[in-house]
Amino acid sequence: MELDDYMFVLAVLIVHVNISMSLSRCGPELKCSCVTSPSGTIAMDCKARKVNIRQVCESIAQIYPNVSDLNIARNNIGNFNAEDVNNCRNISSLNMNYNQISSLHSGVFKDFQNILALDLSDNVLDIFNKTAFDPGFFPSTLRILKLFGNFPEDNEIERSFDYPNLTYLQKLEVLEMDGIETDIGLEYENSSVRNLTLSSKGPLGFCSIKEIFPTTFYSLVNVRVLDISSCKIENIYRDAFKNLVSLEILDLSLNRRLGFSSLMNVSYSLQFTNIQFLNYSRVYTTFGVGTIILNRDICYLRNTSLKAIAFDGNKVQMVEKNTFVLFPKHLETIYAQENKFSFGLYLFQFGCLENVLQIDANNQNKMHAPIKYLAEPKSKDDNDRSRDSKCQYMTEENCNMAYNIDNTQININPSNNSLEVMDFSRNAYHSLSGKLGPFPNLKFFFYLPFSLFIHKLRHFVDGQS
Ligand SMILES: *[C@@H]1O[C@H](CO)[C@@H](O)[C@H](O)[C@H]1NC(C)=O
Ligand SMILES: *[C@@H]1O[C@H](CO)[C@@H](O)[C@H](O)[C@H]1NC(C)=O
Ligand SMILES: *[C@@H]1O[C@H](CO)[C@@H](O)[C@H](O)[C@H]1NC(C)=O
Ligand SMILES: *[C@@H]1O[C@H](CO)[C@@H](O)[C@H](O)[C@H]1NC(C)=O
Ligand SMILES: *[C@@H]1O[C@H](CO)[C@@H](O)[C@H](O)[C@H]1NC(C)=O
Ligand SMILES: *[C@@H]1O[C@H](CO)[C@@H](O)[C@H](O)[C@H]1NC(C)=O
Ligand SMILES: *[C@@H]1O[C@H](CO)[C@@H](O)[C@H](O)[C@H]1NC(C)=O
Repeated sequence: MELDDYMFVLAVLIVHVNISMSLSRCGPELKCSCVTSPSGTIAMDCKARKVNIRQVCESIAQIYPNVSDLNIARNNIGNFNAEDVNNCRNISSLNMNYNQISSLHSGVFKDFQNILALDLSDNVLDIFNKTAFDPGFFPSTLRILKLFGNFPEDNEIERSFDYPNLTYLQKLEVLEMDGIETDIGLEYENSSVRNLTLSSKGPLGFCSIKEIFPTTFYSLVNVRVLDISSCKIENIYRDAFKNLVSLEILDLSLNRRLGFSSLMNVSYSLQFTNIQFLNYSRVYTTFGVGTIILNRDICYLRNTSLKAIAFDGNKVQMVEKNTFVLFPKHLETIYAQENKFSFGLYLFQFGCLENVLQIDANNQNKMHAPIKYLAEPKSKDDNDRSRDSKCQYMTEENCNMAYNIDNTQININPSNNSLEVMDFSRNAYHSLSGKLGPFPNLKFFFYLPFSLFIHKLRHFVDGQS
């Protein structure tokens, strides 16, 4: 953002705050800050203010009965009991990120009858040990639960991990937790969770799922958004997402050893879902050889409901001939930033992308800081993968490579210009209609395939060939 824009936004924000919200100091020793919304509810921010949770909750009960949101992240709270938080029981959102909490006492949240969102991320809760962790401690009103960053750092190799059974939280819609090498339990078939994130978020997040088998996510029939980005995925089986009939958004980005070799399996699987957006960005390391997208990789996408796809940062250098012909009919948006496209026949086939409205391909051949090299896994070179496919949508037929410029409305300014010659010859456009001009002094107008001679053409209207 330009500095000027920044100042402008800042000014707008300040004005906005004055009109609709008020900011004040609050909480124990006025260490926190409170923002009152127009509806009268208060959001209290005590993040990293060295406060004690009991005192914060007492201050809420005494002075601020309308507090609905409390952020008490990064205060080294440790374990707490029901009495400590009793006076917070009416709040609807509680953020306890990064507080060294290792266990939850039974009944600790039992009186929280309005709570919708609870963030316990980046603590040391043993959520993958069914004996140690009882999800029954969570209030059943919850809609959003964040548990990522709780994977034990010093995990013993022998130990087995299970995803917690959260199905009794019948209103839960959004669940974010660490991703482990275990199938999600069958109890999730009845779960109301719509947005599931297993990605390694933040510095303490953890996600390691080397292979996705047909059983791994089998129970996620109700999930619409699945974020498994940055999960160290290397291979995905053909039926991996077949049972996810409600799936609309799949994020597979930042799995840097995945490559395009699994893309055919992903494409196959997505036929049986309601997929709208696939993020397949950064599935290679930042450095390494250029990559190629083959027809077999995306062929089954033809039979999906996909509307947008992202291939950013994949060092795509080549696209096989006819790949664009196989893209889904309803595809509207393609993100392809930070690649290294070279010349190839595919460049002449953009016309095959019938319904595509937007292609975002900025930043080709971008430079990267070499220091990243050390932080990334061994690079994958899968360019020699087989081109065979049983996919029935494969075609040698070519789409119509002609382009149209229709309904043109271009007003030339100044209108008293002196342009005399216009040459439209040998273009790929086979029709041109609308209005372009005026050119009061135009004498020669050349147009493919004939060179038309038009004397003193004042207005150019409808030049259909
Ligand atoms: C919680 O809400 C109830 C009902 O509105 C009210 O009676 C009670 O005083 C509130 N408790 C606290 C600690 O704010
Ligand atoms: C699981 O938790 C129980 C109870 O806290 C504990 O005894 C057990 O050692 C834990 N299991 C593992 C594998 O850490
Ligand atoms: C999961 O929890 C639900 C509700 O608490 C319970 O009915 C179900 O039996 C549990 N399933 C498993 C596999 O533990
Ligand atoms: C679920 O994810 C979608 C897509 O990212 C988002 O638009 C929606 O707001 C999320 N739902 C909730 C309840 O956060
Ligand atoms: C694709 O799916 C097949 C069948 O499920 C599996 O054997 C294979 O390992 C998967 N991955 C690749 C890269 O072919
Ligand atoms: C195309 O997708 C539909 C579901 O959307 C599926 O039932 C059908 O089997 C797919 N076609 C093929 C040939 O796999
Ligand atoms: C795709 O994923 C990358 C990496 O996680 C992210 O930066 C990008 O914004 C995503 N693309 C879209 C269109 O959401």
